Amino acid sequence: MIRIVEVGPRDGLQNEKTILGTEEKFRFIELLVGAGLRSIEVTSFVKAPAIPQMADAVELYTQVSRALPETVAFPCLVPNLKGYETARSLGVREIAVFTATSDTFTKKNINATIDESFLRISEVAEVAKRDGVRVRGYVSTAFGCPYEGAVDLKKVISVTKRLFDLGVYEVSVGDTIGVAVPAQVRATIRALKSEFPIGQLAMHFHDTRGLAPTNIYVSLEEEITTFDASAGGLGGCPYAKGATGNVATEDVCYLLSSQGLETGIDIKKLAEASRFILSKLHRQTDSKFLRAFFNTGIV
Ligand code: HMG
Ligand code: MG
Repeated sequence: MIRIVEVGPRDGLQNEKTILGTEEKFRFIELLVGAGLRSIEVTSFVKAPAIPQMADAVELYTQVSRALPETVAFPCLVPNLKGYETARSLGVREIAVFTATSDTFTKKNINATIDESFLRISEVAEVAKRDGVRVRGYVSTAFGCPYEGAVDLKKVISVTKRLFDLGVYEVSVGDTIGVAVPAQVRATIRALKSEFPIGQLAMHFHDTRGLAPTNIYVSLEEEITTFDASAGGLGGCPYAKGATGNVATEDVCYLLSSQGLETGIDIKKLAEASRFILSKLHRQTDSKFLRAFFNTGIV
């Protein structure tokens, strides 16, 4: 069984200029649950001017937690203690903290160096542990930075270690701008799995240059079993120059099922969730699977 962390409602929407209503976002999440997704990143508790699409985080999470099944995990992104306190006041049971391998990127993204981001994360991790809230960690720019270029693998390892040392249950290794190539992915995972349990590593590919599915295939060969993906292939970080969508959940599901690997996801229902949100955004999909499915109805 392969675990998919659906990041569509958060990463997928955070860079979209059309601001959606809370009801529309809720319906999208409801459709994702109906399609079988069991871990759905709902929103982020960040500064509204930084990410205007997430300004309704409180209302959205409140609706989700009231109406949707407790058996589904609904993690939320949190950049600092202020975000954590808001999340906690709503009863959020899982959060995601984030940093990167590049000081230039973290400065642009969260107005902090990597070291400063760890001061914030350690404060958050401490109270989360006390409160019994699960914490997931992201390492952005693990395969290349839009401002600093190539990334030293040692830096990926050291940032990952710092996250695990703070008690995160899993680290998601992010190709923020979609520059990773298969040999690099293999080398990175081999280096990471020589230091950390493979079952606690996830991969987060953006599909900017079309190699995300190939990178996932290589990750599978290297025994990764958790992947982040976004319905319809939406996504991108507004503070990462040139970032485009996450790998589409549909493309990942199609690849995995071709390999005989189960995800528990109904790809036709998932396509309907994507159709819904794409229509609200007045957007076409970048997912090759989804385009073909919309045109032909063939899975
Ligand atoms: P800052 O301006 O340095 O914060 O922003 P500050 O502490 O100086 O506070 C300034 C104001 O923001 C204050 O309000 C604070 O209360 C408020 P004022 O007194 O001026 O009215 N504030 C907040 N408000 C709401 N929620 C909060 C919060 N914190 C402070 N949590 C900050 C620093 C981190 C807040 C800001 O830069 C920010 O929100 N950044 C978010 C960036 C973001 O969400 N980026 C996208 C997600 S990361 C990503 O996409 C990568 C990933 O997908 C993996 C990959 O692909 O690699 C995860
Ligand atoms: Mg991302």
